[in-house]
Amino acid sequence: MKVELVPGVYWVGAIDWGIRDFHGYLTDAGSTYNAYLIVDEKITLIDTVKKGFVPEMMARISEIVDPEKIDYIISNHVEMDHSGGLPETLQRVKPQKIFCSPRGRIDLTRHFKEDWPFQEVKTGTELSLGRYTLMFLETPMLHWPDSMMTLLKEEQLLFSSDAFGAHYASSERFDDRLPDHPPGYAHQLKKYYANILMPMGTLITQLFKKIGELGLSFKMIAPDHGLIYKNPAWVLEAYQKWAAGIATAKGLVIYDTMWHSTEKLARALVEGLMDAGAEAQLHHLRSIHYSDIVTEVLDAGLLCLGSPTLNNNIFPSVGEFLTYLKGLKPKNKAAMAFGSYGWSGQAVSLINRELEAMQLRVVHEGFQVRYIPDPEELDRARALGEKLAREHLRA
Ligand code: FEO
Repeated sequence: MKVELVPGVYWVGAIDWGIRDFHGYLTDAGSTYNAYLIVDEKITLIDTVKKGFVPEMMARISEIVDPEKIDYIISNHVEMDHSGGLPETLQRVKPQKIFCSPRGRIDLTRHFKEDWPFQEVKTGTELSLGRYTLMFLETPMLHWPDSMMTLLKEEQLLFSSDAFGAHYASSERFDDRLPDHPPGYAHQLKKYYANILMPMGTLITQLFKKIGELGLSFKMIAPDHGLIYKNPAWVLEAYQKWAAGIATAKGLVIYDTMWHSTEKLARALVEGLMDAGAEAQLHHLRSIHYSDIVTEVLDAGLLCLGSPTLNNNIFPSVGEFLTYLKGLKPKNKAAMAFGSYGWSGQAVSLINRELEAMQLRVVHEGFQVRYIPDPEELDRARALGEKLAREHLRA
């Protein structure tokens, strides 16, 4: 079935129903690799798909035109889920040109070591296809150095590459039926932002400013993953809010435990948060995937990180989470460390060091107990949770 966005513009991507591990990110709803075909005097393919999905893309293209008639390919992004299918595509499609950003040319060459007919484009460069005109918008570090977007001017249709995407395999192609259908999509959009784009909030805010300066507005946004937005206002609004790093009155207690002592403290802390009327969540690091936890971190106002001390160090799962979190550069959050220990208690101070390195507001020196917390210590942990919520989670 042909999926037409606007006259002569088609979705020709692929659906990856089964993927659950996307370079470590738990893609619990699968994904899509969206590619788009513009049928005009110059027939143009925007992006390709992940290696292994080229036959699916070619079948969709072949329903519309002979792939050998494609004149141009536009590569908005080098990452392998969008350009991994280029070599196989180019065995059949012989484009006159492959348009990409200057950095895209360098990086595509580095990846594929091929002398393909690249043509560099920059922000504001226009390309006439016949009745349609494309304009390019470089978006370096959103989220790779090469990244760019492509605007189909006459239809105010933005091909946004990874931005505004969601890992979501579905028979739905458009957002007509949001917010309720397809189920869980809005959560996957947030999860994608948290895991891929959280570090780029300042750049995203600058991009919105640039879009305003260029006088651009969009009637439709077509990202490289997930749904195509016929009503882009809701997704633009969500991105502006996330990029601003606005924290809500939500506190997270994130921990791992060896013999349940740190777990007891974690439960006491979360009870304290609830006593104060805050939205509270408890996350055990070996039960809940870190990519799901950082989805909640995105708009949380308080993080309590707990670890036992193991071999004079942080428990491994806590260390892994802190490494991942540090790379995502969370902002506007209060934070504290807690934990239990037997004969040495380095975990809390090591967590504090990591929280400070992330430039989070460390609002307590750390709460730790030796071996098993007694009732009085659990009462103190609960009271601390309540105090932290009252002082740092104002709605
Ligand atoms: Fe969907 Fe950065 O690749």
